[in-house]
Amino acid sequence: MFFASDNSSGAAPEILAAVLAANDGPAPSYGADALMERVVAQIRQIFEAPEAAVYLVATGTAANALALALFCPPWGAVFCQDKAHVAEDECNAPEFFTGGAKLVLVPGADGKMTPATLAPQLARIGAGGVHSLQKGLLSLTNVTEAGTVYTPAETASLAALARAAGLPCHLDGARFANAVVATGASPAELTWKAGVDILSFGGTKNGCLGVEAVVIFDPAKAWEFELRRKRAGHLVSKHRFLSAQMAAYLQDGLWLRLAAQANAMGARLAQGLARRGGVTLAHPVAANMMFAEWPAGTTARLEAAGARFYGWPLAEGREGARLVTSWNSRADEIDAFLQALDAAL
Ligand SMILES: Cc1ncc(COP(=O)(O)O)c(C=O)c1O
Repeated sequence: MFFASDNSSGAAPEILAAVLAANDGPAPSYGADALMERVVAQIRQIFEAPEAAVYLVATGTAANALALALFCPPWGAVFCQDKAHVAEDECNAPEFFTGGAKLVLVPGADGKMTPATLAPQLARIGAGGVHSLQKGLLSLTNVTEAGTVYTPAETASLAALARAAGLPCHLDGARFANAVVATGASPAELTWKAGVDILSFGGTKNGCLGVEAVVIFDPAKAWEFELRRKRAGHLVSKHRFLSAQMAAYLQDGLWLRLAAQANAMGARLAQGLARRGGVTLAHPVAANMMFAEWPAGTTARLEAAGARFYGWPLAEGREGARLVTSWNSRADEIDAFLQALDAAL
């Protein structure tokens, strides 16, 4: 009954086997390994983007902060949803790596901004000449921090609005696999076909040991990214172990199978929660993360029964919880939790 986070789960056996296999013999360091060539080819094929530049880093914060810095000058603005991971959970890494850019928080229900909430913020660009905020980029998250998803059409409408204001678009895809499974859209439809210029493509939360890819759809900025990654201390010397994880993750659709399990267990949990009187879900559940509210006292009783999740402040006088399923969540675990919830209620 462990629903604290998808990065609390271990790594998938296929990933571990690939890391072990990559340990055999010497290999060129710093990304010159043969497995990295395979990763580039896989990502270009999966994203239908034969020109894309692909780089690996070990954390999502590094992927996001370096991606944002690539497109945003120190005096620029990053427009992101007001609960975005880049704004709330990265210890100002985006501000640091951009050299001081401003993060402009765009409101929106269920973790999603809309053209109506984004447009007034974009209108602030340059409004006061040299005194005001300047062009940077738009940063979206899919799956969002509220556990909802942007469809390709929603992504396209936001990216187009940004583009009209002269801004490129970044996508934080720490849970991109879950978004692909949830929407049924292709990786290309959710990214460059919808106007996304650069993607942080997550692996860690979905069964890898620790690897994220940065996918730059226009390779013109590839060399600058390499320099930024090295300068930031994120060029891993025994890079083959990052490559091995990502290559195995993408091989034969493993990444989608793992996300499908996480999402299926998310749906099972969400349906169970929705059926219980006294429990409400704060947002529509699309993938593997959800936010539930229940009467005071329920959390302690669930924890005493062995369940693990994060308490989450949602509504006055009620207790809130964030529950996340992962690639190795099981149906019996969900059902045991729902039974414990019945007893706690
Ligand atoms: C939306 C989102 N982006 C990025 C990250 C990556 O963070 P980390 O630097 O912990 O790998 C996370 C992890 O919690 C996340 O939820």
